[in-house]
Amino acid sequence: MTAPFLPDPLLLPPTTLSGPGRIHALFEAVQDWGPRGLLVIGKSAVKSGLSTTLTQLAPPGISLDLAVHVGGEPTLDQLELLLQSIRSRPIDWIAAIGGGSVLDLAKAAAGLAHAHQSPTAYFNGAPLEVDPLPFLAAPTTAGTGSEATVNAVLIHPGDRRKKSIRDPRWMPRCVILDPNLLIGCPAPVIADSGMDALTQAIEAYTSRYASRLSDSVALESIDLLHRHLPPVYSGAATDDDRLGLLSGSYFGGLVLSMARLGIVHGIAHPLGSLYHIPHGRICALCLPLALELNRTSLGEKYDRLSCALEGDAISVIRSHLSAFDIHSPLEGVDISDSLEFIVKETLASGSCQANCKTVTRPDVLTLLRDLGCRLPTMTAERSSIHRETS
Ligand SMILES: [Fe+2]
Repeated sequence: MTAPFLPDPLLLPPTTLSGPGRIHALFEAVQDWGPRGLLVIGKSAVKSGLSTTLTQLAPPGISLDLAVHVGGEPTLDQLELLLQSIRSRPIDWIAAIGGGSVLDLAKAAAGLAHAHQSPTAYFNGAPLEVDPLPFLAAPTTAGTGSEATVNAVLIHPGDRRKKSIRDPRWMPRCVILDPNLLIGCPAPVIADSGMDALTQAIEAYTSRYASRLSDSVALESIDLLHRHLPPVYSGAATDDDRLGLLSGSYFGGLVLSMARLGIVHGIAHPLGSLYHIPHGRICALCLPLALELNRTSLGEKYDRLSCALEGDAISVIRSHLSAFDIHSPLEGVDISDSLEFIVKETLASGSCQANCKTVTRPDVLTLLRDLGCRLPTMTAERSSIHRETS
């Protein structure tokens, strides 16, 4: 079957501003949203003085409260606390300036500000009955693409399950891509988040829900990330490199919404959450292994991917891992106690359902083994892999 022309529905942020210094247009962008705003920021925006500058720039008649994310990937507990604070006084809109965690936390807070049930209920699949507050997103890392998606990834603090709450109404109403916001981002964060963006673009490109439009945008995203990530990582970047990287990540968010993802994001969620590995790093490590797994199903798409990456796709990705000093923290780690949880969460994830090849338990075990994990009863599992794949 040929790929559809367009995703259905096609969801895009209504307004995107981009260029050096565009963050200063924030108050113009929200001027019709009401006088009472909440700015959710990461620690980097506080440290750089950006939050102070923006507070001072607030025009007369606009009241702006601040909420600083404590760090780490957002949990349902953190979301509940933020919602309590939002509901304690009237808020008309929310703006977020930060990395993917800040954006996801703030997006979920905007989405659930007037919700009737607890965040956990929606995390467990309850349908959303209310509209979100207007939401503006300005990323300070180039990675998750959250500024261009309709979902927010959250962690259940009890059992460490990591899942998205998603709703078509959650698309940010305005996005600001300001390359100046990337300045000062530490190199390991640039590498991890940039490889997350690259993984998302490649998984959307290879997804079973890909369309002509998502393929075009995904290939542009892959080209931009491949070209601009190395100079930004090495500190030799121009404004053009930083905006290219931010744009590649934004395109990656768009295609994630259009075509969904694949096995890497299916397995990265339980592994990252259980072993406290940054999301982008575990995605980066799984990406070449997943391409090996999917290669036969990809056909000529693998060649077009290689063309965008200017070399054999798997080899180029491995050379990026080496250049960015990304190594598996799971080498030799015994995952016996968590194996069944990892397999169950991976196979049940929406990302895995979108993988171009149907993913089986032996596929997941192969991937874990190739990551360097120690599996229980290795011999028995290997013979089971052999039986099920032969
Ligand atoms: Fe991701």
